Amino acid sequence: MGIKFFEEKKFFKLDAKDTSYIIGIVDEEKFLGHVYFGKRIPDEPLDISSLLRLNEPPFVPSKNNRDRMSFYDSFPTEYSTHGLGDFRESCLVIRDSNGHSVCGINYCSHIIYRGKPQLEGLPATFGDKDLCTTLEITCCDKVLNLEVTLVYTAFENLDVITRSVRVKNNSDKVIKLEKVLSACVDFDGIDYDIISLHGSWARERRVQRMPVGLDKRSINSIRGESSHQSNPFIALMDKDANDDYGNVYGFNLVYSGNFTAVVEGGQFDTTRVVMGIHPTNFEWTLAPGEEFTAPEVVMVYSDKGIGKMTRTFHDLYRNHLIRGKYKDRKRPVLINSWEATYFDFNTEKLLSIAKEASKLGIEMLVMDDGWFGKRNSDNCSLGDWYVNEEKIKGGLKYLVDEVNKLGLEFGIWFEPEMISPDSDLYRAHPDWCIHVPNRTPVLCRNQYVLDLTNDEVVEYVYSRLKDILSGANITYVKWDMNRQLSDLGSSFLPKEKQGEIQHRYVLAVYKLLDRITKEFPHVLLESCSGGGARFDPGMLYYSPQIWCSDNTDAIERLVIQHGTAIVYPLSAIGAHVSDCPNHIVGRTTPFETRGFIALAGTFGYELDITRISEEDRKMIPGQIKMYHKYNDLIRTGDYYRIANYTENHQYDCWAVVSKDKAEVLVTYIQVLQRPNYRSRRIYLKGLDENAVYRNTETNQAYTGSALMHAGLNIIGIHGDFKGKLIHLVKEK
Ligand code: GLA
Repeated sequence: MGIKFFEEKKFFKLDAKDTSYIIGIVDEEKFLGHVYFGKRIPDEPLDISSLLRLNEPPFVPSKNNRDRMSFYDSFPTEYSTHGLGDFRESCLVIRDSNGHSVCGINYCSHIIYRGKPQLEGLPATFGDKDLCTTLEITCCDKVLNLEVTLVYTAFENLDVITRSVRVKNNSDKVIKLEKVLSACVDFDGIDYDIISLHGSWARERRVQRMPVGLDKRSINSIRGESSHQSNPFIALMDKDANDDYGNVYGFNLVYSGNFTAVVEGGQFDTTRVVMGIHPTNFEWTLAPGEEFTAPEVVMVYSDKGIGKMTRTFHDLYRNHLIRGKYKDRKRPVLINSWEATYFDFNTEKLLSIAKEASKLGIEMLVMDDGWFGKRNSDNCSLGDWYVNEEKIKGGLKYLVDEVNKLGLEFGIWFEPEMISPDSDLYRAHPDWCIHVPNRTPVLCRNQYVLDLTNDEVVEYVYSRLKDILSGANITYVKWDMNRQLSDLGSSFLPKEKQGEIQHRYVLAVYKLLDRITKEFPHVLLESCSGGGARFDPGMLYYSPQIWCSDNTDAIERLVIQHGTAIVYPLSAIGAHVSDCPNHIVGRTTPFETRGFIALAGTFGYELDITRISEEDRKMIPGQIKMYHKYNDLIRTGDYYRIANYTENHQYDCWAVVSKDKAEVLVTYIQVLQRPNYRSRRIYLKGLDENAVYRNTETNQAYTGSALMHAGLNIIGIHGDFKGKLIHLVKEK
């Protein structure tokens, strides 16, 4: 059993693979205290009360009630509430029917059971009874008649503990929730660093490292999506932790809307980490008897640096989050029309691309933006999901059938959540967009956001998607979302629920995704948001892959994919070989290198195959062969970062090692040639020390031990932006 309750000493011990997490019930009033999160430790003997500092000033309220406030303000609570004297970051803020915001919760009851529950209306990781144990601790505020249930699941095969929270109003009065975060962990000490992922459009997920300070560090998005700027991920780690060494605690919110992660160094040398839905623009009315569920936070512990945390996230997401037909399957090699033609295509053009693509071994044609309404630029037609038969002569079915006849599958782009002011839909239903009456909503990419809190709007979107997807043999959908939310107002919701728009919007997106994926289970879904603004575990629950960035330049992608892969598996990273000079940065890189870097993702093409040079085109069959040869390994193996070009400014290197350590693929990219310098040694990781590995190209043999400790010399690369794959196979 991964979770135990020790009745006498009143504590819970949650054991994941090599991780323990301990919660104590404290004092007569039964406060819930956080004891420990870290490397697995034996059950007994354990001195819980000394770890919780219960015998030191300011003592517990039963011993020293005159300093009750000091107790609240220093106690390592399991879930912080606002209003009684814990002045650190709180997780729960309410407004009762009298306008007061005081809330305090104490242990009431608990249950422990095998398995892992799903969260109502929300994506979440899943796990079988033989792998997972769940603990639900119900705490109560007896004055408010409020029940707060803290839900924990321990994975026995991984260093993972998940958390979520349910808040139930058992009173006969309406309560407003102003903030409901999903997790709170109070760590001992403040000597930690934090890493988080930051960026911008075309520059997503740069790794930022900073120290914990005696203040608050906040990583967040209030943009209505997880965003280009921040990702719902942070890791707290030892100051000297690196990729291979040190304690690292990763937190990732399984949610695709506004989020906050706050790390707060406290006056008594403790560090509080909280994570959940951002309280800005969040409010939830809880009528008598109603319950609110906060999204899941995944907590990963690693005793061996950032790299082990990464591999745990990858394993968890590949096996316990991503679902559907493509969960454990190679994805078809696609060619996408976006950077090939932008809006300038028609049936003939697409068929000419498909024809050439089929000759070279490409397996799917994806028709991106521009096939519907009057869409010849990004100025119009979102919402009018009817095929533009002036462009798609003969109709969609004809096009798809012709593409299928060439031996290719067919995929299509949608941006279902949006509406253009210049659209038939907007002319018919101007009140269907998110807006505040008498105020012209702010445009972004010339579009507004549909008010998905209104079921009628959702029904419309669903029926258009369904119609298009049932009308032809479509086996892939790119689900895009190209703007952030502003002008928060809904003509559908009553006044008192206007503060619920953003969370309701996210729930509606999930419901829509759920319906579409259930109705069309054979369709491969790739989510997208102006590139990678919705690269989060919430979306991964519905789509096994996510477009990583609109920046397809190979060298830029080294950085973007490196940051993305800190948390998310390579199997989920949408990556294509595109044309040069690159459309975003104007850089020219060898076609071969572009292939090596796209290989560390889903792999595909995004160029006009009929117009690229003969020399490049000729390389495509070889690249596709390489994809088929290595994708099983890349999709399922353990990912090791070996060198990072943003740190050394010269070269990048990573490796994927198969789970049985029998096969390794090393990717080495020389970003800049170093003058008067011939070769470079790299040190592999994660191999079988005692095994002999043979390079499948040169036939040279090495011991695993030598490859890891003495290193592997990379020679023969001359010039900037050049790369090399090294494939090693263990001798039987
Ligand atoms: C977004 C996507 C692109 C492309 C365009 C189409 O920017 O990230 O890949 O689909 O929209 O408008």
